[in-house]
Amino acid sequence: MTQRAAEFDWEALRKVAREAMSHAYAPYSGFPVGAAAQADDGRTVTGCNVENASYGLGLCAECGLVSDLQRTGGGHLTHFTCVDGKGALLVPCGRCRQLLYEFGGPELLVDTPKGVLPLSEMLPQAFGPDHLTQ
Ligand code: THU
Repeated sequence: MTQRAAEFDWEALRKVAREAMSHAYAPYSGFPVGAAAQADDGRTVTGCNVENASYGLGLCAECGLVSDLQRTGGGHLTHFTCVDGKGALLVPCGRCRQLLYEFGGPELLVDTPKGVLPLSEMLPQAFGPDHLTQ
């Protein structure tokens, strides 16, 4: 997978997300989700949703993904995709857009049903780490 946006192999990243989705634990919603992203050093990180009997404590796929990023060396996300149980593209929920902002910033490229968009278009005027240092 190349780093350059125009040549980036999104289909390969979606395939990785679909594989991650196959490991989801979603007995309550019946809605498995898989996410995959590339980091700025070229490595790929993944996550799947992991639900809980308490419902509200369920973890989105993006939670696992940012944990995977941090655990495997940290860095910055450059490309992100997310799929549902049918393998179709899914937009990240509001909370997860904030998680992605922390580790990808406004320029993170997000693979959406409406095309590849920078995160700044999906989370306008985002609150982020910079606000805490101003
Ligand atoms: N879900 C995710 O994993 N990521 C999202 O961005 C959207 C929603 C999960 C949470 C829950 O386990 C299931 O999808 C149904 O909402």
